[in-house]
Amino acid sequence: MRLTPAREGLRGQIAVPPDKSIAHRALILGALCRKGLAVRRLPSGGDLRSTLKVLQGLGCALRMEGTGVVIEGGDLRPPAGPLDCGNSATTMRLLAGVLAGHPFAVELSGDASLSARPMRRLAIPLRAMGAAVDLAGGEHPPVWIRGRHPLKSLSITLDVPSAQVKSAVLLAGLFAEGPTSVADPFGTRDHTERMLQWLSYGERFVRQGQVATVHPGFLEGGGALEIPGDISSAAFWIGAACLVPGSDLLLHGVSVNPTRTGFLSALRQMGGVIEETPAREEGGEPTADLAIRFREGLEGIRVPAEAAPSLIDEAPILAVAAAFARGETRLEGLAELRRKESNRLEGTAAGLCAMGARAYVEGDALVVQGPTVLRGGRVDTQGDHRLAMAFAVAALAARGETLLSDAGCVEVSYPDFFHELSTLLDRR
Ligand code: S3P
Repeated sequence: MRLTPAREGLRGQIAVPPDKSIAHRALILGALCRKGLAVRRLPSGGDLRSTLKVLQGLGCALRMEGTGVVIEGGDLRPPAGPLDCGNSATTMRLLAGVLAGHPFAVELSGDASLSARPMRRLAIPLRAMGAAVDLAGGEHPPVWIRGRHPLKSLSITLDVPSAQVKSAVLLAGLFAEGPTSVADPFGTRDHTERMLQWLSYGERFVRQGQVATVHPGFLEGGGALEIPGDISSAAFWIGAACLVPGSDLLLHGVSVNPTRTGFLSALRQMGGVIEETPAREEGGEPTADLAIRFREGLEGIRVPAEAAPSLIDEAPILAVAAAFARGETRLEGLAELRRKESNRLEGTAAGLCAMGARAYVEGDALVVQGPTVLRGGRVDTQGDHRLAMAFAVAALAARGETLLSDAGCVEVSYPDFFHELSTLLDRR
């Protein structure tokens, strides 16, 4: 795809796509509720379609209603064949936790990118709970599970900052013989915990400091949930408005769960102007309207490793912003960024360098020396949606034309991204 620099700022008001992380959990937990769950405003991207399809393959009754779905709760049944999770690791890892507690055999498979992602971190705790879990080459998908019920209770401390592994163990805990606890010293996203609490009125779930404990049994459900806007998608517009002179944007109803807002804090620290007006709460998740206005003069900052889990999906767009900021920006503790839909740590540095920025990887840190006047060029997205959107934003603030490879990959999380971009540029 060819992209030309923005001639004027991005202006307007939009609702970004519903939050992918929260939506996966609403579907999966909804399927486990005795009274089901109505989920309003589902994301339309490929990742959510994967979760819907896999749940249907497990006999879950779903009725699409407008942009939402009504899930009838009930028992999951053995599937007729392998369950295809597409590009979505959240689908695979969270459902692996659920299926570990079901006494039948399943195969969870995925596309080429998902098939390269680490799964031993998931298999180890699920095996400790008594499920048989096999992986291709002992490490990757497909994941073969023969579950059992009840599972053994488990108490672990996360040794990798993965909300997906934490969630898988907590979900498996619903099918264990006693309480299951996960301590999360990294502070990864806590949507599963919030939703377990909300759906069971706090009966199945207790949180004390870093430790989340789930008690086995049914979730009640029966209510309705509207999925708030995705801060990871909003991040591209926030970044764009901070980089393109004259921009003035209002984003409605964005999830501002504190485990996800590291990007907002970092960009504000760099000098970005982002105003937050608290809005309603949905299913235990806080939301806000975000107003972003361009202001000259971003400054480079150091983002310590402790902040990495709260901005891990936003690191590429934060690095793009850093290229325009004065001085050095160091994003530390990004080892996990190598294990996403692509090696995003190297991919971000390479894309920035292709546009003339001074960016490099040092250990697990991404270092960007700014400011640079970026120039268009050929940028390889590696077929990774978040790299594609980050470099599309860079292209808006660069000089000359940018050629993005495989821009269609944005489909998994933000199918309307390029359409939305042209509307925001047109509203003048
Ligand atoms: C997610 C957790 C994170 C994140 C991913 C979504 C989730 O992955 O990068 O986009 O919904 O739990 P990890 O658990 O692999 O860190």
